[in-house]
Amino acid sequence: MATHEPSKRLQALPRYLFAELERKRADAEAAGREVIDLSIGDPDLPTPPPVLEKIAVAATDPANHRYPTSAGMPAARRDIAAWFANRFGVSLDPLEECAILIGSKEGIGHFPLAILNPGDEVLMPDPGYPVYFAGTTFAGATPIRYVLRESNGFLPDLADLDRLATPRTRVVWVNYPNNPTGALATRAFYEALVAWAERRDLIVASDAAYSELYFDEPPPSIFEIPAARGRAIEFHSFSKTFNMTGWRLGFAVGAPPLVGALVRLKANVDSGAPQAIQLAAAWALNAYLPTHGPALRAVYRERRDVAVEGLRKLGCPVTEPGGAFYVWGRVPAGERSIAFAARVFDHTGVMLTPGVGFGEQGEGYFRIALTGPVAVIDRALRLLEGLAPWKAPHGVASSPSR
Ligand code: MLT
Repeated sequence: MATHEPSKRLQALPRYLFAELERKRADAEAAGREVIDLSIGDPDLPTPPPVLEKIAVAATDPANHRYPTSAGMPAARRDIAAWFANRFGVSLDPLEECAILIGSKEGIGHFPLAILNPGDEVLMPDPGYPVYFAGTTFAGATPIRYVLRESNGFLPDLADLDRLATPRTRVVWVNYPNNPTGALATRAFYEALVAWAERRDLIVASDAAYSELYFDEPPPSIFEIPAARGRAIEFHSFSKTFNMTGWRLGFAVGAPPLVGALVRLKANVDSGAPQAIQLAAAWALNAYLPTHGPALRAVYRERRDVAVEGLRKLGCPVTEPGGAFYVWGRVPAGERSIAFAARVFDHTGVMLTPGVGFGEQGEGYFRIALTGPVAVIDRALRLLEGLAPWKAPHGVASSPSR
């Protein structure tokens, strides 16, 4: 093995999708091209001023300059538990059932290392957030992908899960509101899933990073199903809810042995999230989300409507998303998603995410993140109209529009 060769586990992974897209964007901008980046789900909106003010005040307190704990501050965890009770009607023990994360991605990536052994199998959605696969692979466990079918509202078919599960299966990942499809899960779905997981004695890991981005009814937590308490863990994020991707904060709630194992793992690899950020964000859940949430959702609703209607006018089949801030559309018939995203980028400067980046079942799709103002989404749509990808015969790109 060459001296500087990355580990076999790292080599087993494709390069991180959004890191590759960031590189592509940086190269294009360095070459002087205009880029409209609708690829990564990174809000264009700023962190709200009341949250920034709280961070600024807490940052001046020397008590917040020292090592945080890996589990997170008890005060922040109490705020999280209070919000959870209010939002989902579920009462959690803040110290046993809540832990602060350095973003939900960190927890999702580390959780497998805390509970899996080589040879264990993990069921995960396809299409799905790439970190389920990466975390499982780093833990030496085996990722097994299940299909999210459009015809089933991008929910897993429990019969599929049952067929894929073996005695080695330990965990099943679910993610609603869903990235990349924008699909929602109902309470009835979680009920059936938890009953199935009980029968198979599996852990359910639920990624609820987009729980506060929805367009109609607030989506449920898996913990609204009482039987989930003993066998599930749910990951939440401040990133999208409060436009805080740059501050890196999330939290996990769930069965004490699962949360405890994650905290124990984290104590070995990180020292927790900055306390000023913990205090401000946890405060915001209870004190600021009631006014901020509706305003934020109104912004994304307008963007969603513009994007969905605009794409449909161009002839692109899209299902209207019920949550998260993504639109999942079909690439023109017969075209591959990477080729399509590259063609769109080369001709228009619009960056989409190719669906196959989320797994094989994403082939034939692309994702738009609603992370630009309506005027930017409109401009992207006009550039796409110039390219007319859903009208031109397959493989024949119309002339560049700029
Ligand atoms: C996405 O674009 O899918 C996510 O924002 C990436 C992330 O959260 O890591």
